[in-house]
Amino acid sequence: MTETLEGPEAIVAAVARLGLGEPIAFPTETVYGLGADALDEDAVARIFALKGRPSTNPLIVHVSGAEMVDELVEEWTNEAQLLADAFWPGALTLVLNKSERVPDIVTAGGPTVAVRCPEHPLALGLIEAYGKPIVGPSANPSGRISPTTAEHVEMGFEGQDLLILDGGSCRAGIESTVVDLTSEEPRVLRPGVVTVAQIARVLDQDVRIDHQESGITKSPGVLGAHYQPTKPTRLVSSDEVAQSGPDIFVIAWSIEVLGDSQSGHILPADPHGFARGLYNAMHEGDLSTASQIWIEHPPKSDEIGSEDAQIWHAIMERLTRACQ
Ligand code: TXA
Ligand code: MG
Repeated sequence: MTETLEGPEAIVAAVARLGLGEPIAFPTETVYGLGADALDEDAVARIFALKGRPSTNPLIVHVSGAEMVDELVEEWTNEAQLLADAFWPGALTLVLNKSERVPDIVTAGGPTVAVRCPEHPLALGLIEAYGKPIVGPSANPSGRISPTTAEHVEMGFEGQDLLILDGGSCRAGIESTVVDLTSEEPRVLRPGVVTVAQIARVLDQDVRIDHQESGITKSPGVLGAHYQPTKPTRLVSSDEVAQSGPDIFVIAWSIEVLGDSQSGHILPADPHGFARGLYNAMHEGDLSTASQIWIEHPPKSDEIGSEDAQIWHAIMERLTRACQ
């Protein structure tokens, strides 16, 4: 049975479970994560099993501040310091060379570790109270839509032994930006609400968007089908939105109201608001009686400012994979 708790008593109960190697779920500003002691191999193995996650896909280690990263990495570089100063706590994950301390299971056997300090009082309170780093893959069964509320986590893991900390709806709504600092040039492996331009400004150098390195996947979680509803899901043009009927759950941004015979969810037309509501709308579509989900294609990049275009790009990365 899942159990859901709020506030300080949630943290006390979660710390006790982490110490016993039992899984918990916790809110962050991006999406909910599944937590376990990052230095406890058996506890981490339980997270892989619970998610049904392939052992080849590494996990992000969550810390309460840069001090906690020291023992996890070979070197805390100047670039890492600059980015942490600018964006932590926040939706930016840094990939660095790992230390011996980090169990291989966390990094899928690889030489690097991903670290992030989340900006959510419950997440930070939890990590501080536990005093050790915590792994945090998104709290969804592998391949499914990421959760942005405690209820989404409950639905994903119904009947499982899981303590869920309820911190309300996630503010950002899509997963953190992942930036790799282990090669010559910084590379964004997963786009998010912290944009490539923002990272480039802080580092004062070019940053590439790169999902693959000479055919070898650097960040396995960004390839293939993912973020998927259980129903057939399509990206549609703004014109097609008007043609959706009662059997289609439509997620749109360019209209004010749905027609009488339409069902669905209208999200804000700004990319931050759209990102915040997207996964919740997809979960709703999945629970609805409609047989399909249609999602309106983001605006064309020549119609919007470049910061916004980068957030829409991060959203598109999720949408194209939700619609495979
Ligand atoms: O916003 C987030 O990052 C959320 C919240 C809970 O913090 N977590 C999250 O975790 O999205 P997950 O496991 O769903 O996605 C982690 C991504 C995957 O694409 C994975 O392949 C990549 O980060 N990743 C993890 N460790 C890596 C590493 N050492 N090198 C490259 N990519 C890595
Ligand atoms: Mg995920």
